This record gives sequence, C-alpha cells and structure tokens, in this order.
Amino acid sequence: MHSNVKDLFDNLWQNYLDVTPSAEKIHQILGSTQQDDVINDHIALRTFNIDKVGLDKLAAHFLALGYTEGGEYHFEAKKLYAKHYEHQDPSLPKVFISELLLEKCSPELQAIVRQLVDQIPAEAVTADNFLYSGRHWQIDQASYETLLAESEYAAWMSVWGYRANHFTVSVNALSNFETLESVNQALKDAGFALNTSGGEIKGTPEVLLEQSSTLADEAPVHFTDGSRNIPSCFYEFARRYPMANGQLYGGFVAASADKIFESTNVR
Ligand code: NI
Repeated sequence: MHSNVKDLFDNLWQNYLDVTPSAEKIHQILGSTQQDDVINDHIALRTFNIDKVGLDKLAAHFLALGYTEGGEYHFEAKKLYAKHYEHQDPSLPKVFISELLLEKCSPELQAIVRQLVDQIPAEAVTADNFLYSGRHWQIDQASYETLLAESEYAAWMSVWGYRANHFTVSVNALSNFETLESVNQALKDAGFALNTSGGEIKGTPEVLLEQSSTLADEAPVHFTDGSRNIPSCFYEFARRYPMANGQLYGGFVAASADKIFESTNVR
C-alpha cells in the first residue's frame, strides 16, 4: 500500500498516459496558462468480484490513505456493482470502483476470468503498485473474443488489467470554461470524438451531476498469438451542482455511469 496519496495518483496518471496519449493534449486544451486549474474530480477502477481481487481489495489501498466509503451503485444489465470513496480533503479525487458479478455471467466467461485471476501472485494485490500494475496474465485472441461477445467490461479487463480506466476533469474548477457544453465543443473543434451513448451529456442539473467523456484511445495489445489495437482508456468531464445546503453534490448517478462504461466499447 502507498503511504503517500500524491505518489499513488501520480503513478496512476503516468500509467494511464502510457495508453491514453490524448489525455495530455486535452489537458492542454482545457487548462489555463495562468494557473493549474485542471483538477481531477475522480478516477475509476475496474475488477472482478473474486475474493482475491474484489472491489474491497482495491478499496483497501484508498482506505489506508484516509478515504471513506461513499455511495453504492447497481448496474443490472452490465452485471456490475460499484462503490465510491472520498477523502475529507476535497482537493483529493473521489474514487469509483466497480466489479463484474461473475455468478451472473456464463460458465465460459467465468472459466476464462478465473484462469486469468489465478495467475496473479497473491502478494501482488497488496503491493504499492497493484492499482497500476496492468495485467498479470497471458491471453489469446480467441479468449478475448469470447469475453467480448458477452461483456465489454470483462474483455477490457482481460487486456488492460489493473490501471485507472479513466481520469475526470472537474469542469467546476476550470477558469476558461463554465459549462460542459463549452468543454465538449472545444474538444470536438480539436477533433476528439465523444461518447454519444445516452447523448453527449449524461445527467442534468436536476440530478446535480453532468458528465461527458471521450471515446477511449486505442493502444496495441500483445496476445499470445499476435498483436492488435484495442480501446484503452478515456478522459471524462464532470460538472457538479450544489445541493440544498450549498455544497456541491459529491456522489454519482448510476444511469449516467451506465452509459459512461460504454466509452471503452470496441468500435
Ligand atoms: Ni467516471
């Protein structure tokens, strides 16, 4: 486990940039030259609900750094369960961790996933670098295709493993942009493709959170039987609205997150 929260996020960010080069360009488009105003609202991590690597095992890395549990979320159709974690220091990103509910998946999918997770050394899960350690297994293209036919999420995990699935720019903190619409327009003007599943903007001021995201970059993946480009990670943008007490809403909206998951879909 990391003892320094900044080190952890710096490492997660560098590892994310390895397969998400567009994030660096977007950072430049949105940021002001006068100040460092590109603040991270949250990151998201994915896993499987197998004891060895379940949501709680990932969360332990954040609980050790003073994070506490926030809300929980259910995604019936995608067979996912998620929780978010937050820190009392509001400058630290929230953390959204989801897990695939294997018992709801086919025996074929379960067998492939168990065989991947079996290859992770037990001590790797508590090591400092686990959350940005990538995958700990080999996989062939046929297994990947079998997973992809049933669950985009499982397929993504099988090739990318443990890493930040996305980082999220806090639109509230940007000095050059006020609305999510204006952020989206600047990105489209610069040639970036946005996730349009459920509309470019997920959520509304009424549910206190609006989100949009790019479509994932693609990066080369090495299979045991060849290499090819696969969608990697994406960048997300979030605008939060104040609750009745004046504080910005700090949770997530399941219906919006459901569509955001599709940012890594194979196209
Ligand atoms: Ni997100």
